[in-house]
Amino acid sequence: MMDVGRHPNIELLTYAEVEDVSGYVGNFKVKVRKKARYVNENECTACGDCAAVCPIVVPDEFQMGLGTRKAVYIPFPQAVPSAYIVNANECLGQNPIACGKCIEACEKRCIDFDDRDRLLNIEVGAIIVATGMEVYDPAVLDEYGYTRYPNVVTSLEFERLISTGGPLEGHLGRPSDLQRPRRVGFIQCVGSRTQDPARGNPYCSNICCMNTIKAAQYLKDNYPDTEITVFYMDLRAFGKGFEELLMRSKSNGVRYIRGLPGEVWEDPVTRNLRVTVENTTANRLENHEFEMLVLAVGMRPATDTEPIRQMVSLSKAPSGFLKEAHAKLRPVDTPTKGVFIAGAAESPKDVRESVTQASAAASRAAILLNKSRFAVEAITAVVDKDLCKMCGRCAEVCPFGAIQWEKKQVARVVSAACAGCGTCAAECRFGAIEMRHFSDQAVYAQIDAILDEDPMHKIVTFACNWCSYAGADTAGVSRMAYPPNARIIRTMCSGRVNPEFVWYAFKKGAPVVLVSGCHYVDCHYIDANRSTTRRMDGLWDGLEKAGLRPDRLLLEWCSAAEGARWQTIMKEAEKKRQSVTVEEVEQTRAVLATLQVPSPRNPRESDENQEAEFACMRCGNRWTGYYSVNLERTCPQCRSNSVRWLRVKK
Ligand code: FES
Repeated sequence: MMDVGRHPNIELLTYAEVEDVSGYVGNFKVKVRKKARYVNENECTACGDCAAVCPIVVPDEFQMGLGTRKAVYIPFPQAVPSAYIVNANECLGQNPIACGKCIEACEKRCIDFDDRDRLLNIEVGAIIVATGMEVYDPAVLDEYGYTRYPNVVTSLEFERLISTGGPLEGHLGRPSDLQRPRRVGFIQCVGSRTQDPARGNPYCSNICCMNTIKAAQYLKDNYPDTEITVFYMDLRAFGKGFEELLMRSKSNGVRYIRGLPGEVWEDPVTRNLRVTVENTTANRLENHEFEMLVLAVGMRPATDTEPIRQMVSLSKAPSGFLKEAHAKLRPVDTPTKGVFIAGAAESPKDVRESVTQASAAASRAAILLNKSRFAVEAITAVVDKDLCKMCGRCAEVCPFGAIQWEKKQVARVVSAACAGCGTCAAECRFGAIEMRHFSDQAVYAQIDAILDEDPMHKIVTFACNWCSYAGADTAGVSRMAYPPNARIIRTMCSGRVNPEFVWYAFKKGAPVVLVSGCHYVDCHYIDANRSTTRRMDGLWDGLEKAGLRPDRLLLEWCSAAEGARWQTIMKEAEKKRQSVTVEEVEQTRAVLATLQVPSPRNPRESDENQEAEFACMRCGNRWTGYYSVNLERTCPQCRSNSVRWLRVKK
């Protein structure tokens, strides 16, 4: 951080918050609130005279509440700039000044209670998001007694306790009596790798095993007589030199027991902690007693990640961490051009991996900024000014914020920001938006070509370019035989499928229409496939209103690697096709020829999170759940995504 602070080409804005990001690649406008420090950072020499006289004492966040600080403080020892800050919420008062001792104590007259927050408007060409991560709070896991027993600490608290810059200045002591613990236990995977959302996260937090091994090794090096036991599910030491460190700690006498304790009790007299554990290697029940117990807590995304994600239009994984554009080929890029991610904002990772990723993100940004010209997508949306009714729906659904619209103004597409998903074109009810290279005309021509001959034997299938089309490919190259009735129309995203395409296919005599795309969280255009689900709800509803069988329209998510899933989807679609009779198709054509196409029902905001009835279009299963357009719907019986929301239960 010191190096960054001193670099002539880097302006470091600390104690500042990003409030808004607008614009697009090469032309981002960022609004930053630089908070008032109430101390002149250029004059402050960090002598500490102000803190010495400050009467306010509060828990120190950097020391995980194990130490204290004053209301005027330096957030952490390596802070840049190395200057004090007055916490306005804790200070006795500035207006009128109720205390003012720091003003008198500061010889250099650095304290300035007239300081105010400043709003900075910065123009940048590229953005790197590195919002980091936070530790899981084990307070909810009552069995470990974290909130009841002072000698149960988290791995981060333990880190502070053994740090020379920590509250005990590197002399290990347990919180209850500050005596050195001779028996220390570590419990792994606290808040990680669980399928129960109330008990933590389903993913592996990546760094906890090595953190524990390192801490155990530190104890053995500095306090060799300490007995150390580590309870684990399985140890993950897969990085360079990691296995060697694990072996070293084992040879130094650290005991590793495969099995996680079910409960922790405290001896009220000695304040020691007792655990009972099933040692699954030795196949026996064991009792252990420790003077201190360390919970190796998992990681979760930083709280600030979500607002930043919304500001710069990024997608997130179900874990809440940010999603890269491609896990293998573009690991630091994001779907939004000009925005890159680094470090634990993307997934839990250690320092080494974070530095690697940060270097990669900085290089990617530098490559972009060094170009005098930037190649935009060839597939972008175009607005027909004459047809645009200025409703603004396109701007609302664009996942990239690439459409600029103001009331009573024609929508304008910023080509540099448009990624070409086509969800705006599918949303426009006036046909005012066209996609270059994936025009409506081209799609209608393909439907015509499919259904002109022998329509009864065809399944009109819309497949998104990135996942389901590739999934069909995988099935093909893996020689997974499936019924040959599917005729695939490739679109860039399932969000491009305009409801009119589906109506047209039915009008032309399609027995079954299948819409398929990436799994819900995998859409390559952030969350464009949420719009697909919403439109499908409307279509199913419209079919029913027209007296037609809604289950002739199917929706399925399939990834590029899921050839077998594609095979199953096609077999099920074929079964459905066989259930449709010639008379039914004729009746559909007759109904739709006379009928103005029923307008899709858009779910109301008030329906969000309401108890609702669902029906599976593939197997007919019905059940009750909670409606949300943001939740992936899967049939609990056949795992199909062709799930229709019927009605909110009153
Ligand atoms: Fe596949 Fe959006 S890219 S559904």
